[in-house]
Amino acid sequence: MELATIEGIIRQHGAQKSGLIAMLQDIQHEYTYLPEDVLRHLSRTLNVPLSRAYSLATFYRAFSLKPKGRHPISVCLGTACHVKGAVKILEKFERELGIKTGQTTPDLNFGLEQVRCLGCCGLAPVVTVGQDLYGKVTVTKVDQIIKRYRKQETAHAKT
Ligand code: FES
Repeated sequence: MELATIEGIIRQHGAQKSGLIAMLQDIQHEYTYLPEDVLRHLSRTLNVPLSRAYSLATFYRAFSLKPKGRHPISVCLGTACHVKGAVKILEKFERELGIKTGQTTPDLNFGLEQVRCLGCCGLAPVVTVGQDLYGKVTVTKVDQIIKRYRKQETAHAKT
């Protein structure tokens, strides 16, 4: 965790208590979660109770106290997707990534979670990776999906 990055975010929002939510949003975006030591740092720097920072961090669904991964994967297990074999797809992601649902890969590239109905049942089974939506996913497509994001990470690491 780069202190300079956190300090930069604090300055960008005027180092004022009123900017706390915006700072938390930027930190969530940067690290995919709100690390405890960062919440402590914000609390000290802005002179707000740590309990206030925690209550915001747990109140809003967009925030997470655990790393979500740069590419958060959600596998829909709603009824339509379940009927079309979503459980097997979720299991395939777990095997390929070497993690269980609710966990994040050690390199923080991927997080895996299950969700209930993404509202596009006609495309069942459905998976989202960040903002990208994949419909009619098959077990064999899982490899391709993961590969696409691994490639992005490799390209990113080279730049
Ligand atoms: S049940 Fe999966 S999108 Fe509706």
